[in-house]
Amino acid sequence: MKIGIDKIGFYAPHMYVDMVKLAEARGDDPLKYTKGIGQDEMAVTPITQDTVTMAANAAHQLIDDKDREQIDYVIFGTETGIDHSKSAAIYVSRLLGLKKQVRAVETKQACYGTTAAIQLAKGYIALNPESKVLILASDIARYGLATPGEVTQGSGAVAILLSQDPRIMTLEKETTFQTEDSMDFWRPIYSDVAFVDGKYSNDRYIDFFADLWGEYKEKTKRDFADFAALCFHLPYTRMGEKALKPHLENVAESVANQLTERYKTSTTYNRLVGNIYTGSLYLSLLSLIENDDNLAAGDRIGMFSYGSGSVGEFFTGILEEGYQDHLNTANHKALLANRKEVTIKEYEAEFLKELPTDGSTVEYSGDNDPADIYLAGITEHMRQYKNK
Ligand code: HMG
Repeated sequence: MKIGIDKIGFYAPHMYVDMVKLAEARGDDPLKYTKGIGQDEMAVTPITQDTVTMAANAAHQLIDDKDREQIDYVIFGTETGIDHSKSAAIYVSRLLGLKKQVRAVETKQACYGTTAAIQLAKGYIALNPESKVLILASDIARYGLATPGEVTQGSGAVAILLSQDPRIMTLEKETTFQTEDSMDFWRPIYSDVAFVDGKYSNDRYIDFFADLWGEYKEKTKRDFADFAALCFHLPYTRMGEKALKPHLENVAESVANQLTERYKTSTTYNRLVGNIYTGSLYLSLLSLIENDDNLAAGDRIGMFSYGSGSVGEFFTGILEEGYQDHLNTANHKALLANRKEVTIKEYEAEFLKELPTDGSTVEYSGDNDPADIYLAGITEHMRQYKNK
C-alpha cells in the first residue's frame, strides 16, 4: 500500500523584517546574516496570530468537504503551543469545521515533532486505509531581541494531508532514526524564549546527519546517486549545507552539483520566513517541489529531520505522477510577495507584545491582519478565535 503526502500547504504571517536592516540595527555586517547565516527576510508575528491560527490558516485553503469526511485524526506538531494541557489540534479541528469523530492530539520533540506525527500517521493509515490524517506543524521561533539566536527566528505553519494513494509523494518504508540526550536547545516551561548553546547545536545537527545518513546507506545500499534531491530541517538556510557538504567531497561531480543546486532551491521559502521549527523541513520540501521545474515523477527525495534535545530521522519519498497539479504554488508565492515589510522598531514592538495573564479581557480587530483566521482576543484566560 502506498502512503504519503496527498496535499501540502503553508502559511506565514503578513509582516517581515529585512535582514540587512536587522544586521545594521544590531551593528553586524549584513553579509553575516545574508551569506553566513543565509537569511534574507524574517517573519514577524502579529499579536493576532498564534500557533493555532497559523496552522488553521495553512490548512483551511487545503482541505475540501470530501477531506472533512475522511479526516479522523489531527496531529499537531509544535514546541510553542498555547496550552500545557489542551491540544492545539482541537481548536483547529473546530476552526476547520471537522466532524466530531476525530482524534485531535499534539506531539512534541522540538523540531522533530511533525516527523513523529507523520510516522505515527503512516502506521495509522496502514491499519485504516480509508482514513486521512491532517498533520499540522506550527511554531513561533523566539530567542530574544539582540541575542545571537535572533537572526534565526521566524514563524509559520505547514499543513499536510496524509493518505493512501497520495497524489504528491509516497513515503518509503526505510528510515533511520536516533535519540541522544543533549542540552543544545531547550525551553523551560517558565520561559517564552528558547535557551540554546548555538555552536553545540550546530555540531549536534551535523553529527546526527552523519550518523543517520551513514546508517541509511549501510541499511539500504543506496547512495547519493539514488537521490534527485535532499531536504533538511532548516533552522537557517546555511545549516543543511554545513551538514551535507563534507559528504559530497568524494561523490561524482554531476551528482554533487545536482544535490547542491537543488539544496539551494529547497531553501527558497525558508530564506524569507526564518525558522518555523516543526514545519521547517516541510517548508523546505515545499520550496523544492514548487520551485524546481526539472523534478519528475519517480524521483526520490531524502529528508533529514532534526529536533534538538535530540531526536533525528532520515527518511525518503518518491514523487507521484502529476504531483505538480496538486500543488498550490501560485497562492504560496502570492502569500510571500504580498507581505508587508516592517521597520526594526515595529518588529521589536510586536515582539514585546503580550496577552494578559490575569484573566482580563482584550479584543483585537482583524482589520490589520489579512489572514482569514485570527486571534480576536482573550477573556478569562480563554483565547477567542475568529474566521472572517
Ligand atoms: P553566531 O555566533 O552569531 O554566528 O551564531 P557565527 O559567528 O557562527 O557566524 C555564523 C556564520 O556567519 C559563520 O559561517 C561565519 O563565518 C559567517 P560558518 O563559518 O559557520 O560557515 N560570517 C560571515 N559571513 C560573511 N560575511 C561576514 C560574516 N561574519 C560571520 N561578515 C548561530 C550563529 C546559528 C549559532 C546562532 O544564530 C544561534 O544560536 N541560533 C540558534 C540555534 C540554531 O539555529 N542552531 C542550529 C542547529 S540546532 C537545530 O536546528 C534545532 C532548532 O531548530 C531547534 C529545535 O529543534 O526546535 C534550533
